[in-house]
Amino acid sequence: MRSTLKLLAASAILSASVSGLALAAETVEVLHWWTSGGEAAAVGVLKDDLQKQNVTWQDMPVAGGGGEAAMTALKARVTSGNPPTAAQLLGMAVNEWSEEGLLGDLTPIAEKEGWDKVVPDAIKNFAVHDGKWQAVPVNIHRPNWLWINAKVFKENGLEPPKNWDEFNQIADKLKAKGIVPLAHGGQPWQDTTIFDDVVVGIGGPEFYKKAILELDEESLRSDTMIKVFDQMRKIRGYVDPNFSGRDWNLATGMVLKGDAAMQLMGDWAKGEIVKANLKPGVDILCVPAPGTEGTFLFNTDFFAMFPVGEDKLQAQYKLASSVMSPSFQEAFNLVKGSIPARTDVPGDKFDACAQRSMADLKAAQGAGTMMGSLAHGHAEPAAIQRAIFDVVTQHFNSDMSSKDAVAALVNSVNAAK
Ligand code: BGC
Repeated sequence: MRSTLKLLAASAILSASVSGLALAAETVEVLHWWTSGGEAAAVGVLKDDLQKQNVTWQDMPVAGGGGEAAMTALKARVTSGNPPTAAQLLGMAVNEWSEEGLLGDLTPIAEKEGWDKVVPDAIKNFAVHDGKWQAVPVNIHRPNWLWINAKVFKENGLEPPKNWDEFNQIADKLKAKGIVPLAHGGQPWQDTTIFDDVVVGIGGPEFYKKAILELDEESLRSDTMIKVFDQMRKIRGYVDPNFSGRDWNLATGMVLKGDAAMQLMGDWAKGEIVKANLKPGVDILCVPAPGTEGTFLFNTDFFAMFPVGEDKLQAQYKLASSVMSPSFQEAFNLVKGSIPARTDVPGDKFDACAQRSMADLKAAQGAGTMMGSLAHGHAEPAAIQRAIFDVVTQHFNSDMSSKDAVAALVNSVNAAK
């Protein structure tokens, strides 16, 4: 990623003012991957907000959960010398684009509006580089949730699992009755969303910190990691035969319809629940992924700003200012499934799952267990993230032993370092 970005740097900066001329002064073009029903509804909130200020939203959606396809499209846009006004980026990607000197600067507006005081440090660390605000945080997502169809559980006399052993017992019971225990989409980022949960759930938060955040080799090759892959193999037995390549929102749809009992997914799944007029916490239950209670894995969607010509700067500032306003943070996150990135937005309008997220986040910040999600770009740079994706997915889709998976994990991580 680094070297590719280096090659792009010159053309991006030179062409920023040219691309600015191509669009009307009060237009913002935003590249993002919010294309599911719930995600698109959330984009609508932002578009309407800007329209009220006479800023036209030029949409550049690139389908593909987790944003991999969007990142490829973004690189192509920057290479061709035509960067968008802003792009949805996860935290580590903000760091990487910033390191290459490719991002703009929002500091004047940040200072005027006092963003410093209302954004938690864990998130500010990704948005601010060398004292400059280069991206605005839209939300805080929690990827370590388990979503449960309440009716299916009730009919089968089941209680939400608190650890992986309980999860396995429940899944075995459901499977024996011909019910798909787990809705899943077999894509590397979805496999790794589950892997993150299992690393925390089996090893505990300290183990996640050592193995995933610090890439400590002893932890990566430990017996605990073997147990993690054993559990991944079990999970493979609980998905339906058509899981391969399925989009995450279709998997969520299976839980909403009762075609599957559970899904391990971030709270963007709640956007789909709300869109389907079901009640989170009532029709679809939310509990921390097994064994992860007390840990808040997080990822934040940022809008990173690209350098624009003078003619487009005001529109870019308006976009940033809108995203950071408390009223927008409330309205958007009610639809998106996440919680506000600002600490001063009241929680009273939010549903039970979001309120739990808010409370759990506070507790995790106090306990030192708020940690960046690997699957969702807040733990490792792209090269290492990709190396881990590859091993997790290869193991999930083959009969590779846990021992071999651990060896492959250590090798891939070392090669990518
Ligand atoms: C993003 C979410 C998005 C999800 C599925 C995550 O990485 O942070 O905003 O809804 O991917 O596309």
